[in-house]
Amino acid sequence: MPDHSVTSGGLLAGKHGLIMGVANERSLAWGIARIAAAQGARLALSYPNEAVGRRVRSLAKELGDVELLACDVSSDEDLDRMAADLPKVWPGQSIDFVVHAISYSDKNELTGPYVQTSRSNFATALDVSCYSFTAVAQRIAPLMRNGGSLLTLTYFGSERVVPNYNVMGVAKAALEASVRYLAVDLGRHNIRVNAISAGPIKTLASSGVSGMRHLVKWAEANAPLKRNTTIDDVGRAALSLISDLGQGITGEIMHVDNGYNIVGMVAIDEALRSAPVLLELGQQLARQREAAASAVVDDQSTITPQDDKLDPSLGDGRH
Ligand SMILES: NC(=O)c1ccc[n+]([C@@H]2O[C@H](COP(=O)([O-])OP(=O)(O)OC[C@H]3O[C@@H](n4cnc5c(N)ncnc54)[C@H](O)[C@@H]3O)[C@@H](O)[C@H]2O)c1
Repeated sequence: MPDHSVTSGGLLAGKHGLIMGVANERSLAWGIARIAAAQGARLALSYPNEAVGRRVRSLAKELGDVELLACDVSSDEDLDRMAADLPKVWPGQSIDFVVHAISYSDKNELTGPYVQTSRSNFATALDVSCYSFTAVAQRIAPLMRNGGSLLTLTYFGSERVVPNYNVMGVAKAALEASVRYLAVDLGRHNIRVNAISAGPIKTLASSGVSGMRHLVKWAEANAPLKRNTTIDDVGRAALSLISDLGQGITGEIMHVDNGYNIVGMVAIDEALRSAPVLLELGQQLARQREAAASAVVDDQSTITPQDDKLDPSLGDGRH
């Protein structure tokens, strides 16, 4: 069995890092923060509002001396203020790494067909989950005077269709493309830009994706390592990217998913074990399709003129 304990050492001794996206003890960002602190980093944690701030403040006590900064990434003023505050809390220090573990979508659009995504949630999801990484890079790169590492979190739903992940899959695909563009722009300043594509983990954000329970079971049954990803797995992989261990790595999307992404077909020996999960997921999708089909019948205005080619019996086109 893998070792789930927090790895301690000095790989980040003397380094200063900002971690954005701790909401509670299940957060991927928390897995990274714990390992970064155990490796000697001085940390600042950011939070979007007071409700989250209260939780982060009490968790942060476990990490010792941590700076806390308010920043809602959908606000340029907040981002500017956070970038202005960092040199004040750490006078004369260069920033060495930033972890961006932030995403948002209206959970009503993380169920049913992607085709029903609204313009406003598309814009919000892409703004908070994707653009914010670029907005952070713009402001923090100038503070990385000795070079540095920017890291974000993504998910396999960017590469392949995963039921209900919907607009988040589109946002993550754009985020992964941003990683590559930022890596080229910032490489000349010795700033590396990478992403970790984590396997499904139950968190506050992921619980908004309908059927998350099934995703987790499915991943465990079908991943080559036959186990689920943990926030410590993510923390350890992040350590390799934000420390000098990763100094030759940039523009990379590193999968930390027990190998799930390489599998092209359900393992034959797992077929029986997977059947109940498939059945449950199939029933859920069938209910969603029925609801979507009756909504279309009730309100023809929900479909565009080209959509008259869509046969509701084909559902959302996922196979
Ligand atoms: N949980 C998973 O299965 C999984 C898998 C792969 C990738 N990820 C990604 O990991 C990252 C962290 O998510 P998590 O699963 O740890 O959930 P989480 O709920 O613990 O973290 C999401 C964070 O986003 C923050 N956030 C949302 N809107 C914000 C805003 N406007 N300004 C600032 N912060 C804001 C929340 O406060 C929260 O801290 C996300 O990018 C997510 O997509 C999660």
